[in-house]
Amino acid sequence: MSKLTRSVWAEVNLQDIAFNTQQIRRLIGDSQLMAVVKANAYGHGALEVAHTVLANGASWLAVAIPEEGVRLRRAGIAAPILVLGAVGPEEVEVCVAKDLAVTLYEPQIARILANTARKLQKAAKVHIKVDTGMSRLGIPDGAAVEFIRSVARLPGIEVQGVFTHFADAENPNQEYLHWQWQRFERVIATLKRDGVHIPCCHAANTAATLFFPESHLDMVRVGLGLYGMYPNGRSSIPLKPALSLKTRIAALKRVPAGTPVSYGCTYVTWKDTTLAVLPIGYADGLSRKLSNIGHVLIAGQPCPIVGKVTMDHTIVDVDHLPVSVGDEVVLIGSSGQTKITADDWARWMDTINYEVTCLISSRVERVYT
Ligand SMILES: Cc1ncc(COP(=O)(O)O)c(C=O)c1O
Repeated sequence: MSKLTRSVWAEVNLQDIAFNTQQIRRLIGDSQLMAVVKANAYGHGALEVAHTVLANGASWLAVAIPEEGVRLRRAGIAAPILVLGAVGPEEVEVCVAKDLAVTLYEPQIARILANTARKLQKAAKVHIKVDTGMSRLGIPDGAAVEFIRSVARLPGIEVQGVFTHFADAENPNQEYLHWQWQRFERVIATLKRDGVHIPCCHAANTAATLFFPESHLDMVRVGLGLYGMYPNGRSSIPLKPALSLKTRIAALKRVPAGTPVSYGCTYVTWKDTTLAVLPIGYADGLSRKLSNIGHVLIAGQPCPIVGKVTMDHTIVDVDHLPVSVGDEVVLIGSSGQTKITADDWARWMDTINYEVTCLISSRVERVYT
């Protein structure tokens, strides 16, 4: 482990990410694997994850914004990269210059791409996004074929792919998934019938990759599963959660019964108690929603968070344990026989596991094991 500059750190096990990548690779047969490394690889570290997934069977990367792709390029990543998010007119040039494929659904951006391709004497690569029911980005499926045909005719634009995104793939009831799938299949079939060749059609996120193999097509776009988290708590294959969040006890104090704890005095000790102060707070990604709800692990023992989580500190009750300043504290991960998962945090925070790891801020050093 490298020397830490702060006693709050996230351990990211790249062997677990390699394992998860191989597991998914095995599941998808001949389809390609696009590893979704947007948002700093869901908090795990985009560059380290990119190297790991590319060495273990992924052939594409996906980011949300051009800046994330530029960082990967600057670090020497040559693999194809798709920008999944909306690319504005001012961002087109950097995408073409850095060979980042653009998610395209807008005639105006198509024209700017063609002009930029001419200016830079370089093909502008695009994947055309079809909205089959997510109601976010994408050309509506009814207008998609005409749009794809018109883009394919534009000089300088290389249509590498056509894709859609599922809104409800993690739902055990697959009714809406099938509904969207039929719409996308119809678009693909019409393009084929009309002789419009699309090299790469893709649709599946982690949940669809796991539970709807029919949707694997030429490529799957997997994020969550690479990090060992399950969509909606379910998986068809074993995956290993790769991230642990840890800190050390910064201070201990013995307080009498009736002592208010932290901002707003929302917790009052009901007996003489030992409290441990942890040097991690909501600015690190430990949500204030865990106040008086969540717990941490010290030597495998759960210790409840008492009072409000503050920006830089959190207080836990350690009265049942013999502890010392400097003892390791696990916030996410295993400690002895016990563990806390991103799903536990998600339940405490009333959110999803995706948000939990994305919220771990840049202030928290990532340590790769
Ligand atoms: C367009 C698109 N494709 C694929 C993914 C990956 O989804 P997941 O992390 O569920 O695999 C995302 C993630 O939000 C996305 O926005």
